[in-house]
Amino acid sequence: MTEAKIHPPSAEFVKHAHIDAAKYDEMYARSVDDPEGFWGEAAERLDWFRKPTKVKNTTFDYHNVSIKWFEDGELNVSVNCVDRHLATRGDQVAIIWEADDPNVTRHITYKELAVNVNKFANIYHELGVKRGDRVVLYMPMIPEAAYAMLACTRIGAVHSIVFAGFSPEALASRVNDSKAALIVTADEAPRGGRNTPLKANVDKAREITGPVKTLVVERTGGDVHMEEGVDIGYTAMFEKASDTCEPEVMNAEDPLFILYTSGSTGTPKGVLHTTGGYLLFAAITHEYTFDYHDGDIYWCTADVGWVTGHSYIVYGPLANGATTLMFEGVPTYPDVGRFWQVIEKHKVNQFYTAPTAIRALMRHGPEPVERYDMSSLKVLGSVGEPINPEAWEWYNEVVGKGKCPIVDTWWQTETGGHMMTPLPGAHATKPGAAMKPFFGVQPVVLDATTGKEIDETECEGVLCIKDSWPGQMRTVFGNHERFINTYFQDYKGYYFSGDGCRRDADGDYWITGRVDDVINVSGHRMGTAEVESALVAHAKVAEAAVVGFPHALKGQGIYCYVTLMEGVPYTDELRDELVGWVRKEIGPIAKPDFIQWAPGLPKTRSGKIMRRILRKIAENDFGALGDTSTLADPGVVDDLIDNRMNK
Ligand code: PRX
Repeated sequence: MTEAKIHPPSAEFVKHAHIDAAKYDEMYARSVDDPEGFWGEAAERLDWFRKPTKVKNTTFDYHNVSIKWFEDGELNVSVNCVDRHLATRGDQVAIIWEADDPNVTRHITYKELAVNVNKFANIYHELGVKRGDRVVLYMPMIPEAAYAMLACTRIGAVHSIVFAGFSPEALASRVNDSKAALIVTADEAPRGGRNTPLKANVDKAREITGPVKTLVVERTGGDVHMEEGVDIGYTAMFEKASDTCEPEVMNAEDPLFILYTSGSTGTPKGVLHTTGGYLLFAAITHEYTFDYHDGDIYWCTADVGWVTGHSYIVYGPLANGATTLMFEGVPTYPDVGRFWQVIEKHKVNQFYTAPTAIRALMRHGPEPVERYDMSSLKVLGSVGEPINPEAWEWYNEVVGKGKCPIVDTWWQTETGGHMMTPLPGAHATKPGAAMKPFFGVQPVVLDATTGKEIDETECEGVLCIKDSWPGQMRTVFGNHERFINTYFQDYKGYYFSGDGCRRDADGDYWITGRVDDVINVSGHRMGTAEVESALVAHAKVAEAAVVGFPHALKGQGIYCYVTLMEGVPYTDELRDELVGWVRKEIGPIAKPDFIQWAPGLPKTRSGKIMRRILRKIAENDFGALGDTSTLADPGVVDDLIDNRMNK
C-alpha cells in the first residue's frame, strides 16, 4: 500500500482551533482512562434541572447488555437548545432557512425559535399528545420540522422521523411499529422544482395503518384531502396557541427519539436514543469536529430524516447556540452551482456534505464553484460513506482552496454522533481516512474469524468498539433482544459496527465498508433483505437475492437476481415493472440499478444463498469466485455468468 498524501492543518488554523494535537492526546487519554471524570465534566456544558451524580453505568456483557449515562440527571432538550440561549443570544439567528426556490430565505432568531417551539408544543397538548407518546414526522426540510422535533422534547414525546422520500408503505410500517399517536406532515414538499405529495402519501399509508390523527403544515398551499376529525391544519392551530409551555422534566435516560434504520436482516429497526447522553455527545462532537466558534455559520446538507440531520442540523448545533442552515432543495437545482451559491450568500464557515454529492458535482468541473466566493469556508466535512481520494482531492482543492481541513466523519445511526474523525486543528488528514477516535471512543480491530483483537498497529479486520460512549443507542424500540443479537452477539464483549476497517502504520483508521448485508447507496443505508422482500412480494417473483456493486456516482448500486414463478416469461416489460414495484414499495432511493434473471440461485446444500458469489458476478469479477464446490448445484453459477455477459 503506497502511503497516502498527508495534509496538515495550517499553523494559522491550529492557532485558533479549540483542540490542537497536544490537547487531543491529553483529552483522549483522560477520556478513556477516566471516563467518569471526563464525561462528568463534559456534562457541565448542558443545563440540568438536577445535576447527575452518577456518570456511567454500562455493560457490553452479552447476557446483560445495559447502557445508562447520567442516570439520575434531569434535563429538558428544548431548554438546552432554546431557552438557555435567550438571555445571551436571543436576537442571534438560530436557523437560516434556504428554500428550494433560491429567492426564498428565512432567518429565525433564538427568540423566534422559542415562540415557535412553545406554540408547537401547545398544539401537541391540544391534540392530546402526552409524555412518552410517539409522534411520526414525515416532513419537508422546513423550519417547522425542527420546531416539531424540539416541541416533542419539550413535552417529553418521542419523535420518529420518516424520511420524506420513503413510500406510503414504508411510512405505514414505521407508524405501526412505533404505535404513533400523531403524524406531522406537510401538504407538499418542494424539491428540485417539483412537489412531492406528502399528505397524499400519508393518506395512502393510513389505508394500511387505519386512522391516525395528522397535523398538516401548509407548506405550498396545494390542494389536499382533509378528513374531518382526523386531519388538522397547522396554521389555524398555531395562531391560537399560547407561546408559553412549561418544559417537562425528563430523566437523562428517558427516550428522546426513535429512528428506523436498515440492518442485515428483517425489517428496519427502531434505533432508540435517550435524552442526556445523546444531547451531550451531539453537542460536543459538533463543537470539536467542526471547530465551531461562536458566530460561525454552519451548514449540514443532510435531511432531518436521517441521523445526520438529527445530530448535526438540529440538536448538536442548537445545543451549542450555533447558527445552523437548513436547506430544502437539492444540489443541482436550479443549477449545479446551488451549493456554492448558498455558501457565498450566507457566508458559510463549516460545510458538511456526503461524498455522493461531491462526486455528482465534480463531474461538472471547477467552473460552477469558481463562479462563487468560497472564502468564508474554514472546515469541510464528509459523512455517510467512504470518500474516494479523487473526490477528497477535488473537495479539498476546488471547494476548500487547499486551506480548509476536511473532516471525514465515520459514525452511524446507532452511535448518535461522530466516532472517528480527524479534529481539524489537531490532526493532519489523509484522503479517505477517518483517522482518529473521538474522545471516549475505543475502536478495536478484530480478526473476523477468531474474534480476537489484533494488536499490531497495521492491520485489517472488523471494526468494534470496546466500551460505551454517551451517544450510543440504548435499545431497539420494543425489542431489546434484537438489540443484543444485532450488536453484541457476533463478537462477545464488544459493540459490533458492521463495518470493516484498516489501521495503517501510523495507527490511523480507514473504513473499508460494510461486512454484512447492508449496502450504502448514495450515502443511504439499505438492507439487501428489504429489497428482496419487496421483490418477492410481487406475484410473479419466486425468489430474489440482492447485492451491492461498485457504482461510480452512488458508491454502491443495487443489483438484483430474480427467479420468476414457474411459466412466467422473462421480459423487458416485467423488468421495468419490478423496478417500479420496488420503488413503490420502499421509495425512490431503493430503485434497483440492475435486475438479472436467475433461473437458479447459488445455494449451499442447506439452502443458504451464497452472496459472496453473487457479489463477484455483479462486479464482473468472474475469476475470483472462490470455492463453489459446496454448492448444491454448481451449474447455476455458469448460467448466471452467461446471463451477466449477455446483458
Ligand atoms: O458503513 C458506514 C457508513 O455508513 C454506515 C452508517 O449509516 P447510517 O446509520 O445511515 O449513518 C450515516 C450517517 C452517519 C456506516 O456503518 N459510513 C458513515 N460514515 C462513513 C461511512 N463509511 C465510511 N466513511 C465514513 N465517513
